[in-house]
Amino acid sequence: MTTHGDQDRIAAAAAIDEARLWSHLLEFGEIGGIGGGGVCRLALGAEELAARRHITGWARSMGYQVFVDPVANLFVRRDGTDPGAAPVITGSHIDTQPQGGRFDGAYGVIAALEALAALDGASVRTRHPIEVVAWTNEEGVRFTPGAMGSMVFSGALALSDIAERRGSDGVTLSAALASALAATPQATFRPTVRPLVAYVEAHIEQGPELETKGFPIGVVEGIQGVRWFDVDVVGSGAHAGTTPLSRRRDAFQDAMRIVNALNEWMSDPNDVLRFTVGRFEVTPNSRNTVPARVGFGIDLRHPDAGILREKGDRIAAMAAAAARHCEVSVREVFTKAPATFDRRVIDTIETVTRLLRIPSLRMPSGAFHDALFLNDVCPTGMIFIPCERGISHDPAESITAAQAAAGARVLAATLVALAA
Ligand code: GLV
Ligand code: MN
Ligand code: MN
Repeated sequence: MTTHGDQDRIAAAAAIDEARLWSHLLEFGEIGGIGGGGVCRLALGAEELAARRHITGWARSMGYQVFVDPVANLFVRRDGTDPGAAPVITGSHIDTQPQGGRFDGAYGVIAALEALAALDGASVRTRHPIEVVAWTNEEGVRFTPGAMGSMVFSGALALSDIAERRGSDGVTLSAALASALAATPQATFRPTVRPLVAYVEAHIEQGPELETKGFPIGVVEGIQGVRWFDVDVVGSGAHAGTTPLSRRRDAFQDAMRIVNALNEWMSDPNDVLRFTVGRFEVTPNSRNTVPARVGFGIDLRHPDAGILREKGDRIAAMAAAAARHCEVSVREVFTKAPATFDRRVIDTIETVTRLLRIPSLRMPSGAFHDALFLNDVCPTGMIFIPCERGISHDPAESITAAQAAAGARVLAATLVALAA
């Protein structure tokens, strides 16, 4: 038996327009396109500001109001029938990795805008407003930490503490935020909104599980914990042809010793722990000069808070012990314990997938998302769709129009359920 509420959910899902969603995703992927399906839209950079203008234009043409908050999180609001009711929030991010794909983040924002259009198309009214958000700097490439917009929004980070930090290009965060606010003059400035009914984020899985097991939808139960460290190894520059090895303080050689020691300490027979050194900067980076300095970035993740603590807490001591000639400093720049999402939101998403007869799998997330921080301030959940071979953070990232539409249908119906 379907109820009156079920009928609105089904109608909203049925009004998702697969062709419209797909053409919007492809159009959006052209902004900052680098060829081969890749995208480079670093947070608050020129291409990302163009993407903000694009979203603002769409939102205005659909008749929605647009808001922006102090950390430049961008909100598109579809009003509810009760002007005083708290909003349901949905969305993701529009910044990318330096050689990212078209769907990581963008999918969650564009699918959410499609969900609003579907509610309009099906004439479904909700009591609560629904707001689509593009969180600032989820990727953490240009500015550290990642998930910056959702951290500030949720109160995990104070904007005043990071405003004068410089990005990888030397620009301060406050200057970059000022350009972002100036880029969307139609958006009304608004302080952080509270309370919130719920947050739900649609995202590509970025791993192979859904595709391997043949499920079109993942109902995400939580996100593994993450810790980021910056390691600085300082030696002395010298001439590569003249300086005997015995007299060198080679920062690269010490960095290699540190990485080797850490690889051993992080080895996990169960292959659950994730340890990555993905950023490595050698100074002066010249073949015939002994490296004076090396900076590298560690990304450590585990679903067990205890293991994450134990492994991460020893990094500084192990690095100092492994270095032979250089000074080593280790700074933790981002930390978040594993999160479990709200049972009611998880159940709502799962119930919706049954109502729509779309098979779904409950699963954890290996990647972090803005939902990790929203989970601290309101009931939160996530919807995953498969991506080809699980590849993400790479131009090869790929999904089909049908996969995109299935996720948008589940999202639209979930929003109706949460905002009813
Ligand atoms: C998000 O981009 C992550 O690194 O998990
Ligand atoms: Mn993402
Ligand atoms: Mn990402």
